[in-house]
Amino acid sequence: MVIDPAEFQQRRSRFIEQLGGVAAVIPASPLVTHHADVEHAFRQNSDFWYLTGFDEPGAVALFLPHRPENPFVLFVQPKEPTAEVWNGFRWGCEGAVERFGADLAHPLAELPERLGAYLQGAEGIAFRVGRHLELEPLVLKAWGQQLDRAPRSGQAALGLVAPCPILHDLRLRKTPAELVRLREAARISAEAHELARRVTRPGLGERQVQAVIEQHFLEQGARGPAYGSIVAGGDNACVLHYTSNSGTLMGGELLLIDAGCSLDDYYNGDITRTYPINGRFSPEQRDLYELVLAAQLAAIERVAPGADAEQVHDTAVRVLVEGLLELGLLSGSVEQVIEQGAYRHLYMHRTGHWLGLDVHDVGAYRLGEHPVPLEVGMVLTVEPGLYISDRLPVPEGQPAIDPRWKGIGIRIEDDVAVTAQGHEVLTAAALKAVAAMER
Ligand code: GLY
Ligand code: MN
Ligand code: MN
Repeated sequence: MVIDPAEFQQRRSRFIEQLGGVAAVIPASPLVTHHADVEHAFRQNSDFWYLTGFDEPGAVALFLPHRPENPFVLFVQPKEPTAEVWNGFRWGCEGAVERFGADLAHPLAELPERLGAYLQGAEGIAFRVGRHLELEPLVLKAWGQQLDRAPRSGQAALGLVAPCPILHDLRLRKTPAELVRLREAARISAEAHELARRVTRPGLGERQVQAVIEQHFLEQGARGPAYGSIVAGGDNACVLHYTSNSGTLMGGELLLIDAGCSLDDYYNGDITRTYPINGRFSPEQRDLYELVLAAQLAAIERVAPGADAEQVHDTAVRVLVEGLLELGLLSGSVEQVIEQGAYRHLYMHRTGHWLGLDVHDVGAYRLGEHPVPLEVGMVLTVEPGLYISDRLPVPEGQPAIDPRWKGIGIRIEDDVAVTAQGHEVLTAAALKAVAAMER
């Protein structure tokens, strides 16, 4: 546990305080089948992790503001020698209390019989429906029984509410300790990109470059990649979620790498770099690279308290559209192209997302009509790109794409924290200047 136990305690206190009189039920992730009876490596539910730091499956956390003497209750897999021989160490109920600060802990098998009593007296129940299909009937049953007894007991939860608005609002603003962890994820991820660029040469397999990146993640003590690493030579870069990494690198083409590590405590990096495989940009590649870089730098400049992620996106779009008009890949006026979205066959995704314990981290981007204003402690990616292929039809009135541009896919992505002064680029150690991409 690298984040101090006291910080987990503070997170729980703030969560419980904001719940008012509502009790929250937050489950751990289950093990997920990979194939046959083999499971994927365990990945904790980020909400559960954020509040507990407890890294086992088969657990449920209760947060009970109506029981101020024991508001944090954990149900866990009990210690059991045979299970631990096969699947490894468990903290058990004692560990849950002593190590993880639970006020009370019980074996998970006792949840069905105990849940009702713990929820009794809460004004409402905060539980995310639709996601936890084994736990959901237990929560509904406990609530239903409360309602049955309400005429005589005089109390029952009034409703089921989503825990997300409170919890995800907390997770959206990173503490100084979380920023330390995100900087560490950014450091390892950026180093891996630098190593990858140094080994890149024509004839290498995409997967061999992936190996260099992921080896560095593991060597540095990260769990591994935060998401399926994208190592995409040439036209493969125009497939946004290309993860087969089965191609061969060709001289004269670009290599796009979108990869970041996930730390032991799940904080993530998310970086994209694009550079020429043989070390020299062609004129077309250089024009487009300089354009994406200009869009990214302008968008990053926009990141500051009081601005919002839509302004960051709009800034990138404007720079890209102006450049594409100059290069003859679009025609019309800047305003008209933007208004009609007539650039979307070349740039079809948003310019970024929140980053934290999830790569596409939680937190609202809009509240009703209004974009959420950026605040100190929020962390987002800034990742404009251009993808020149004929997969999408050219919009009416826009020029056909000259073959010399096709097969060029470029994205440049950094992780950016909002600071009082404006912003901090966490991933600046991964170079991106034109000169640094050439050799
Ligand atoms: N690698 C996923 C993303 O950039 O959003
Ligand atoms: Mn991203
Ligand atoms: Mn990415």
